[in-house]
Amino acid sequence: MTSNLEAQLLALQQEGEKAIAAADTLERLEELRVSYLGKKGQLGALLRSMGQMSAEERPKIGAIANTVKESLQTSLDQQRAALEAAKIQAQLEAETLDVTMPGIFRPQGRIHPLNGIIDRALDIFVGMGYTVAQGSEMETDYYNFEALNTPPDHPARDMQDTFYLPDGNLLRTHTSSVQIRYMEKEEPPIRVVAPGRVYRRDNVDATHSAVFHQIELLAIDDGLTFTDLKGTIKMFLQAMFGDLPIRFRASYFPFTEPSAEVDLQWNGRWLEVMGCGMVDPNVLKSVGYDPEIYTGFAAGFGVERFAMVLHQIDDIRRLYASDLRFLQQF
Ligand code: DAH
Repeated sequence: MTSNLEAQLLALQQEGEKAIAAADTLERLEELRVSYLGKKGQLGALLRSMGQMSAEERPKIGAIANTVKESLQTSLDQQRAALEAAKIQAQLEAETLDVTMPGIFRPQGRIHPLNGIIDRALDIFVGMGYTVAQGSEMETDYYNFEALNTPPDHPARDMQDTFYLPDGNLLRTHTSSVQIRYMEKEEPPIRVVAPGRVYRRDNVDATHSAVFHQIELLAIDDGLTFTDLKGTIKMFLQAMFGDLPIRFRASYFPFTEPSAEVDLQWNGRWLEVMGCGMVDPNVLKSVGYDPEIYTGFAAGFGVERFAMVLHQIDDIRRLYASDLRFLQQF
C-alpha cells in the first residue's frame, strides 16, 4: 500500500515536470497548475487515499507528498518566469524600429501665392498697429452700397456689376462693407485691415474673374489727414514691392472724398495698384461718428493684381487652376 502510493507520487512528479517543461504558453501552464496542484487536482486526489493509512506510514508519505508538491511548484515558477521573459523578448523584437526600411514619401505642401500675398500684407499692417477683421461674403445692399454713400440710383453701382441673391441679399462686390461692420461695433481710434473674397458679374478672362480677393484698410481718429494716408500707403507698398516710384492720381469713389488711385512704376510702366481716399463724412455719419471730430482714410486693393505683378503671372486663371506644375514654382 505505502510503496504503491509512493511510486504513484513519484510518477506524478515526473510526468508533471515533463508536462510543465513542455508548456509553451502561460495559459497552458495555468492549466497544468490546476490539474496537478489545484484543489481538485491529481496530487490532492492521491493524498485523499492517505486516510486509510496507518499512523506510522502517514508522516513518511506526507513528507514525500510535500517534496513532490514543492518540486512541481518550483518547476511551475521557473517555467512561468521563462515564458514571461520570452513574451517580453518577442514584444521587444516586434516593436523594433528597422531604420533601414524605406520611408513613406509625402510631397511637401506650399502656401498658395494668393495666401502668400495676403499673409505678407497683413503682417506689414499688423506691424503698423492694425487689427485684422473679417466680414461675410453675403451682404445686404445697405452694407455693400448704401452705408458707403452709394444710394440705389447712384451711377457708381454700374462700376460693380453685382450678383443679387433671390432673397434680396447680394454677394459683396468689395471688402469696403467690412468698414461699416467694423465701425458699427467699435469706437475710434480705428486701425483695421480686412482681407476676403469679393464677387462681380464679370466675364472670366486673363485679367478678370467673377470671384477674387481684396484687402481693405481703414483708419479713423481725430486729426488724420491725407498725408497720413500717403505715408501709410507708401510704407506699405515699399515693404511689399521694394523701393519703387509711386504716384497718387485723383480719382472718384463714393465712399471717399477726396479719392485717389495709386500707381506703381514697375518695369518702366505705371501700374494701377489700389484705390484710396479720405473717408466721406456721409460714411462716418452712417455709423454714428461725428465727422466734425473724426476723420480717417481708407484704401482697397486686389490681391490677384499684386500676385500677378510680383510673380509676373500673365493670366489670373492660373491662380485658381490648382495646377501643381504652376503652384510648385512659389
Ligand atoms: N472698394 C473699391 C473697389 O472695390 C476699392 C477702394 C477704393 C476701397 C477706395 C477703399 C477706398 O477703401 O477708399 O474698387
